Amino acid sequence: MDIFTVETKPYLDQSFGTSGLRRKSDIFRQENYLENIVQSIFDSLQGFEGQTLVIGGDGRYGNNEAIQKIIKMAIANQFGHIIVGQNGLLSTPATSHVITLNQAFGGIILTASHNPAGKNGDFGIKYNIATGGPAPESLTNIFIQKMHQIDRYWMIHTNDIDLSNVGEQTIGSSIVEVIDPVYDYTHYMEQIFDFNAIRKLFQKGFKMTYDAMNAVTGPYAKHIFEEVLGAQEGSVIRGTPIPDFGGIHPEPNLTYAKELVDLAYSPSAPDLCAASDGDGDRYMILGKSFFVNPADSLAILAENMEKIPFYKGRFYGAARSMPTGGAVDLVCQRLKKDCYQTPTGWKFFGSLLENQKISLCGEESFGAGSFHVMEKDGIWAILCWLNIMADTQKTPEELVRNMWKRYGRIYNQTINYDTDSAEKAKHLIDSLSAKLVSLPQKNIKNLTITEAHLFDYTDPVTKAQSTNQGVLIQFGPNDQAMIRLSGTVSSGATVKVYLHHKDTQTDLATEKALATLSEATQDILNIPKYLGKNVRITKT
Ligand code: G1P
Ligand code: ZN
Repeated sequence: MDIFTVETKPYLDQSFGTSGLRRKSDIFRQENYLENIVQSIFDSLQGFEGQTLVIGGDGRYGNNEAIQKIIKMAIANQFGHIIVGQNGLLSTPATSHVITLNQAFGGIILTASHNPAGKNGDFGIKYNIATGGPAPESLTNIFIQKMHQIDRYWMIHTNDIDLSNVGEQTIGSSIVEVIDPVYDYTHYMEQIFDFNAIRKLFQKGFKMTYDAMNAVTGPYAKHIFEEVLGAQEGSVIRGTPIPDFGGIHPEPNLTYAKELVDLAYSPSAPDLCAASDGDGDRYMILGKSFFVNPADSLAILAENMEKIPFYKGRFYGAARSMPTGGAVDLVCQRLKKDCYQTPTGWKFFGSLLENQKISLCGEESFGAGSFHVMEKDGIWAILCWLNIMADTQKTPEELVRNMWKRYGRIYNQTINYDTDSAEKAKHLIDSLSAKLVSLPQKNIKNLTITEAHLFDYTDPVTKAQSTNQGVLIQFGPNDQAMIRLSGTVSSGATVKVYLHHKDTQTDLATEKALATLSEATQDILNIPKYLGKNVRITKT
């Protein structure tokens, strides 16, 4: 086998975080762009010779070419065993599981999550370590260093590897194993949930529609929901992965999964509507004419987690990111379990999950997970709901309304301000931070500001400190606003304003419940002054 060295020059725009690197597809198509990243990752790791590397991908445009290159580079760099999903498909949570199941050294995942794909869409790459979780910042910082210095990479000469059939091939001294992407994951889910109870639910005529959004979860959903659990054929819609996701934005929320939402609110609504994003780590839940807010969903999972066989006697506590509504805190209080508030980003849950501080965690952005894999997991979250519904014989609406009755309702909304000017957005946050000290005790629109501070976080396990993770403004015990800059936009900037209002009245329209808080927050932020008129505003 021929290993050759290719000379290359660094791309200084390359960066890398815990969710990897995401760029427009055509940026990735530049000569050696991907190769530089992959070799820099390998150059940063030690002791992987002869070990296993897992390669996953959400199937988006560019997926297969990238996988071919990565396999050839992994062999040239002396990995002994390369595991790749059939046809290059492996969801993010399934990749995480395959890594730990095979005691792999790590894994490379090709995804830009819920971002659109195709020639004009996004592509992305991330690296997960042996725990199955994303590479920590200490490691991704080394990746960046190497990327900015790289001058060569290694590759082997070989024909493209056939990824269409499951089985092993020997290439040089390495084994390339193509696996069924669905098999191990399904088996794991069978160990976690009461599949018999869920089967009975479907036997009794329970109807569900699952929208795979033309992305990676289609094959998982068809197999698990329809073939194994007995949901009616056709329950999974948009279930065949398409490289450009059929031109849609594969993000399960009220805006981008509109057809599913319309179905849930129509006379022919099934008992449950659910969806996942491009790479399968996010999820959305709707009952008949009833949307379950992700913060409420997390609280329902916490309240019922011990009903799920895998978690019996193992509900240690929960965590939510700070901008996520605090319904789960109320449940944990009653259960006398710890509840942590972390900065935005999945990486902050890792140490808590690994050290049994929590069993469950989630974010307002439709992600939830547990210690079963070190990634958030969409299909898993939906199976949680199915298991809970099978156990309680209650609808999503009944479950959520009962919870509101018990604890009060926390109304949540996120307002996104997209601007082309990252500078103006930063200015807004800076000037807000500067006036924080003078805010408390101010009365604005019938609300009194009782506290205003920057959100800093010390990891309870590692003691690592993260400062400046957003601005928190508390208006008494029941109202809170949080403001931060999005860390995931590929151009311009997005200012995110998160509103939380707790109320004993549980039947208000969200807009109405949040009206006073929203006006007060606008008053303080004065968005038009800083961002100008050319902002795009969306609410989720
Ligand atoms: C967004 C979400 C956040 C999530 C991240 C990665 O980040 O808000 O909850 O962890 O995507 O999926 P943001 O754009 O707000 O920085
Ligand atoms: Zn995702």
